[in-house]
Amino acid sequence: MAVKLGALLLVLGLGLAQPASAGRKLLVFLLDGFRSDYISDEALESLPGFKEIVSRGVKVDYLTPDFPSLSYPNYYTLMTGRHCEVHQMTGNYMWDPSTNKSFDIGVNRDSLMPLWWNGSEPLWITLTKARRKVYMYYWPGCEVEILGVRPTYCLEYKNVPTDINFANAVSDALDALKSGRADLAAIYYERIDVEGHHYGPLSPQRKDALKAVDTVLKYMTTWIQNREVLPFWMNSTGKREGWQRGWHGYDNELLDMRGIFLAFGPDFNANFRAAPIRSVDVYNVMCNVAGVTPLPNNGSWSRVKCMLKNQKSSAPSVQLSRWVLPLIFLFLSA
Ligand SMILES: *[C@@H]1O[C@H](CO)[C@@H](O)[C@H](O)[C@H]1NC(C)=O
Ligand SMILES: *[C@@H]1O[C@H](CO)[C@@H](O)[C@H](O)[C@H]1NC(C)=O
Ligand SMILES: *[C@@H]1O[C@H](CO)[C@@H](O)[C@H](O)[C@H]1NC(C)=O
Ligand SMILES: *[C@@H]1O[C@H](CO)[C@@H](O)[C@H](O)[C@H]1NC(C)=O
Repeated sequence: MAVKLGALLLVLGLGLAQPASAGRKLLVFLLDGFRSDYISDEALESLPGFKEIVSRGVKVDYLTPDFPSLSYPNYYTLMTGRHCEVHQMTGNYMWDPSTNKSFDIGVNRDSLMPLWWNGSEPLWITLTKARRKVYMYYWPGCEVEILGVRPTYCLEYKNVPTDINFANAVSDALDALKSGRADLAAIYYERIDVEGHHYGPLSPQRKDALKAVDTVLKYMTTWIQNREVLPFWMNSTGKREGWQRGWHGYDNELLDMRGIFLAFGPDFNANFRAAPIRSVDVYNVMCNVAGVTPLPNNGSWSRVKCMLKNQKSSAPSVQLSRWVLPLIFLFLSA
């Protein structure tokens, strides 16, 4: 059986009352191990947080990972819009003959050497260079100095952040975006992947992890609509068992490897089902919402532009509230 390693990237843009050209605030979630069928229409019935976002935003049929369908290469594809062989992060395990150093799924110290990362410039570095403030939580590689630059804030990845870590990160990110300390916040969540590997995609443990995310999302959408509901807060056990990471890299067109992508907010069409996209396509969407010019990349604009409202006609939705938000969720099974 193919072992699945997936990722969910959720981009949340907080649409402040400002011209779109100024760039939205974005919140990006990468939820690892997320298969597109985890939020099928049937599954959504018991996931009110996801359901609300789906009904108010864009959902693609599925998202195809880049080849090889491995986690680290695909995380970088999402943030660069480039194929793995172009950005050069080509494996979870890599060895560099000229230095005799190895990259070991981002966990050994040598994995943090710029050599593995500066083959392309990820969005968070582009934004930081443009003097936008970037907050990253548990995001793989956020502590690395890439092309001489680090993001404004990086809470380093640790082995399987708990649900409480996640809830606190979301709370902190929203606060940072609201207060103007951050323009982009990016959060990584791993437990769906961990439980899916250890107990299986249909296990109660995997569903429990998804439910924990759903609870945070529900709380988040409520909080954004009604800012008096404070503080942001969630309880969970975050219990963890040992598990073994399996091998990935199966055919990236396999059904099992399919992820998903959701987007929601003033820049996006509401209740809109879009055709499948690829992980290289997401970068252009994020750049558009953030108001930065994308670097040369391999994404297809024609596959994603249908999600976005005509910029000229987006003004009325922004006036609904200062806190109407554009959100993008991306679930990438890599
Ligand atoms: C490369 O590194 C490995 C492991 O650190 C070591 O055993 C080996 O001797 C090194 N090879 C060279 C040519 O330095
Ligand atoms: C990228 O990293 C490698 C290895 O550290 C270094 O030799 C190279 O100069 C770096 N490139 C840039 C543009 O910083
Ligand atoms: C939630 O956490 C708070 C603070 O740790 C605690 O006081 C409360 O009893 C918890 N509630 C539940 C339902 O676990
Ligand atoms: C991918 O994008 C890079 C950067 O623009 C370009 O050099 C390369 O030719 C592209 N590759 C493909 C297969 O389109």
